[in-house]
Amino acid sequence: MKIAFFSTKSYDRESFDAHNTNHQDITYYEASLNKHTVNLTQGFDAVCAFVNDHLDADILEKLKLNGIKLVAMRCAGFNNVDLKAAQAQNIKIVRVPSYSPMAVAEHATALILTLNRKTHKAYNRVREGNFSLERLTGFDLFGKTVGVVGTGKIGQFFSKIMLGFGCKVIAFDLYPSEELKALGVTYVSMDDLLKTSDIISLHCPLTEDTHHIIDKTAFSKMKKGAMLINTSRGALIDTVEAIEALKNKTLEYFGIDVYEQEEKLFFQDLSENIIMDDVISRLISFPNVLITSHQGFLTHEALDQIALVTLNNLEAFEKGEALENEVKLTE
Ligand code: NAI
Repeated sequence: MKIAFFSTKSYDRESFDAHNTNHQDITYYEASLNKHTVNLTQGFDAVCAFVNDHLDADILEKLKLNGIKLVAMRCAGFNNVDLKAAQAQNIKIVRVPSYSPMAVAEHATALILTLNRKTHKAYNRVREGNFSLERLTGFDLFGKTVGVVGTGKIGQFFSKIMLGFGCKVIAFDLYPSEELKALGVTYVSMDDLLKTSDIISLHCPLTEDTHHIIDKTAFSKMKKGAMLINTSRGALIDTVEAIEALKNKTLEYFGIDVYEQEEKLFFQDLSENIIMDDVISRLISFPNVLITSHQGFLTHEALDQIALVTLNNLEAFEKGEALENEVKLTE
């Protein structure tokens, strides 16, 4: 099967080449899939896309015209795919529902520990011969209240890590986990979570219901001095309001691996460019904001799993087998 891979980096190519034992005919493009690049799909059977590729109705229509029958997302989230349009075009969508929830949960933990204990600042200081401890004071995680929004695969691992630190874990989810309850996690309303958490970590998917789940009202309910962590999807947070909350010190720490407008920035080296996005530039200017560019998934184990499951999805489609990882409109 001829497959056009979009938004690929060296680590994607390495893991897919290593696992492509059935010799699928893969063409790697560094470019993302959008209206300017969609014509690169002519002559292919399938497309493999990632988190910031555009799969709206127009693109899907063009993909169909170009002969594409399958879009294999090499990620868990599919908020960038217009499922209704895909169904109308009879293009199947598959994904990798779970590759390493630990990777993202551990990255959320890394953001918390770095923001709290300021190891990123200490690293730079010591390299310059500055051994001062001034302004590096953190807080004990032990005994703090951590609010987890969304306790699916990643949220569950994250909750267990926080329990391991001796934190009190409270959670909000439409479908509470009995396993977490048995481990001592208490499910509360979103309001109570906002009001009582010292640290809030977002692990729910981006949907119409969760778009800007952390907005001006939510910030106004938060405990003064809270830490907010987002490793899920950028648009869960109204970023402009996050800046206000940082300015009025409601938010004392803000750690994000995802950003509302990340598609124009993340995964690229823009170090010699002028950043035109004033919102992220303002965020970068805060000493208590830590931004990573969507690297939560980036572990060897996760990359192996992504490649294996994506290739299995593609092969199942090629053989006309049932697609166990198909994303359907009702999901
Ligand atoms: P999952 O589907 O296992 O869990 C999501 C949980 O959110 C479910 O328990 C669901 O009931 C809950 N939920 C749905 N709507 C909700 C709402 N309105 N309020 C509260 N909870 C709600 O998903 P998983 O694997 O845990 O992934 C979570 C998210 O993490 C993904 O949707 C994706 O956006 C993000 N992600 C980020 C990565 C990164 O590299 N930073 C990598 C992989 C996923």
